[in-house]
Amino acid sequence: MGRVTALLGAGTQGRRLAYMWSSQGRAVHLIDAQEKQLSDSLKYIDGLRDASQRTDARWGDIKTFTPDSLRAALQDTWLIVECVPEKLELKRQVLAQLDELAPKDAIIASNSSSHSITEIIEGLSLSNARRVLSAHTYWPPETSAIELMGHANTDPGIIPLLMEQCREHGFSPFHVKRDSMGYIYNRIWAAIKREALLTAAEGVATPSEIDAIFKDVLKTPKGPFEQMDVVGLDVVLNIEEHYAEKRPDIPEEPRKYLHRFVRDGQLGVKSGQGFYSYSKP
Ligand SMILES: NC(=O)c1ccc[n+]([C@@H]2O[C@H](COP(=O)([O-])OP(=O)(O)OC[C@H]3O[C@@H](n4cnc5c(N)ncnc54)[C@H](O)[C@@H]3O)[C@@H](O)[C@H]2O)c1
Repeated sequence: MGRVTALLGAGTQGRRLAYMWSSQGRAVHLIDAQEKQLSDSLKYIDGLRDASQRTDARWGDIKTFTPDSLRAALQDTWLIVECVPEKLELKRQVLAQLDELAPKDAIIASNSSSHSITEIIEGLSLSNARRVLSAHTYWPPETSAIELMGHANTDPGIIPLLMEQCREHGFSPFHVKRDSMGYIYNRIWAAIKREALLTAAEGVATPSEIDAIFKDVLKTPKGPFEQMDVVGLDVVLNIEEHYAEKRPDIPEEPRKYLHRFVRDGQLGVKSGQGFYSYSKP
């Protein structure tokens, strides 16, 4: 049933993408450095398939591999998505290796949240950079959005092909038309977090009041402070610092306000205390 889709990294995103990309009969190769991640992934995917309401699904085979058999894992692939941890140097190494070992016409995508594909491949001498782009997905798994973003020389023909394949496999694809510091949704969400933090920092309203009005008007289950607590305030601060590095117009006050929580070890749900208190896990 067509050529294979490969996912490199079988963590939170890789296993979820293996489930999605195997929903229309295509075989999937899932590659991870840790055997346990691979066996846990297969159980997780079985669970998702059992719970799936999709009437159109034709589940394809999933084979697992470790990086020592990367060459075999990439054989006959049409698309490879790297989902290794968010470390720029690791992403760069992995992209170079995939470019060397994958079939020459296979599309290579990065799921990186904070590094654009332009940044990842900068200075790498790839055999075919035109087949490389970002394909960024979301969490939780029910979120079907996927954002495709090329670099200056990505083959423009890849985008409509991937958009069509994404739709067929249950994603809602969006094309980020220019190289962007942050994807479409992330930029909007970053602005909401920033302004919510500034509103609290100025003493205009408390975090719980801001969450309450936000939920009342937008009818969302969580407000920005509740959501930031879930993500982790250290992670939120990192993301905001990354934006501030690239964009001089970003105000400092939201970062200063966040930094006070992080300095005191108040990291959100994972530490038991953030903007709200939680019972320790
Ligand atoms: N978790 C999310 O909600 C989310 C959302 C959107 C995007 N992302 C992005 O997806 C990527 C992966 O995130 P994640 O949360 O799935 O990470 P994760 O830590 O859950 O999983 C990463 C996996 O990669 C494996 N790995 C590490 N080095 C490897 C190598 N050289 N070869 C093969 N496997 C290797 C690890 O063993 C691990 O299983 C990151 O770039 C992240 O920014 C994550």
